[in-house]
Amino acid sequence: MTIQLSGQATDFPRTSGQTCWQSPANIALVKYWGKYPVQIPMNPSLSFVLKGSVVKICMDYSIDPDSPFELVSFSLNGQVNDIFKSRIDNYLEGLVPFFPFLKHAQIHIDSESSFPHSAGIASSAAAFSALALCVCSIEAEISGKAPGTEAFLRRASFMARLGSGSACRSIYDGMVLWGKTEQLPGSSDEYAVKLESRHVHRRFMKMKDAVLIVDSGTKKVSSSAGHALMHHHPYREQRKEQASANLGRLLNALQRGEMPLFGEIIENEALSLHSLMMSSSPGYILMHPNTIRLLEKIREFRRETRAHAYFTLDAGPNIHLIYPESDAAQVIPFIRDELTSLCRDGRWIDDGMGTGPERIAHGSK
Ligand code: DP6
Repeated sequence: MTIQLSGQATDFPRTSGQTCWQSPANIALVKYWGKYPVQIPMNPSLSFVLKGSVVKICMDYSIDPDSPFELVSFSLNGQVNDIFKSRIDNYLEGLVPFFPFLKHAQIHIDSESSFPHSAGIASSAAAFSALALCVCSIEAEISGKAPGTEAFLRRASFMARLGSGSACRSIYDGMVLWGKTEQLPGSSDEYAVKLESRHVHRRFMKMKDAVLIVDSGTKKVSSSAGHALMHHHPYREQRKEQASANLGRLLNALQRGEMPLFGEIIENEALSLHSLMMSSSPGYILMHPNTIRLLEKIREFRRETRAHAYFTLDAGPNIHLIYPESDAAQVIPFIRDELTSLCRDGRWIDDGMGTGPERIAHGSK
């Protein structure tokens, strides 16, 4: 795809408006781990978006050809937040070569996060995908193009990637793949693509994600630092091969409706991700003793009941228990009776597959 780069800011009239988007977090089943500049993944990854874990962004903009770009204000849940403001400021400045109007834009952002307070779930994919959608919408408004077309979403996915790699997968609902692979024609390192419904068996259409909170604190090692350690990792090449092989197997499992194979692959991916962290230089451990206890409980439950409940982990100690909605009657009591005692303050979040980002009407912040 050619992403349009150039144009004159003065092509745009003096104008102002507001655009609002709500966008979700996503949970990776095959993990993105390691990247090249600029946010090009070392391996392809696959995820689905969540329903309840969303960020809403409302962007008020005025374009004045006589003024330079400025992110005038940024608030999160009604509070001024200077740490996020400076990251978003850098991000928007970095988008100027793609969106010439930004060079003369004054922007106010109000954001709201539905992420339960200190749940230890990363909100950056939700936030950057919502930001990218807002900027692409402003561009569409200024140029009179319709938002929501395939080209619009692809451009938003490309732009979201520049903020946070995994954010490019939050643009679409269903199963979403990011990273060039021969296993999916049309896939790209620069943006994500949605798997067509004929490639996903109906058994995988309604997946649930119970997020078991083991620790809600800030991580000792950020994902960015973890990605960087992959450059000199002794297993880097093997990891690339493993991720490709796991992706191929997962695509087959999704198409054929093979739930146990799906589970085997996602658990292998989660444990491999954490093994890569442990075998980095320096090595580090993000799992906690209760993470391991929970993993064992989940495997034991499966052995005893044959329910389809499988774990995955992101770069943190919390567990995502993935299961089809049809098994909820068996899985929910198991979570309540056996898992919550191992969660921090008994906390878990009942989430599941969502329908993707939504444009919110003006003024409905
Ligand atoms: C373990 O997308 O947060 O969640 O590109 O540096 O922003 P940056 O990293 P990020 O990494 C996510 C890593 C992961 C796996 C995944 O989501 O695929």
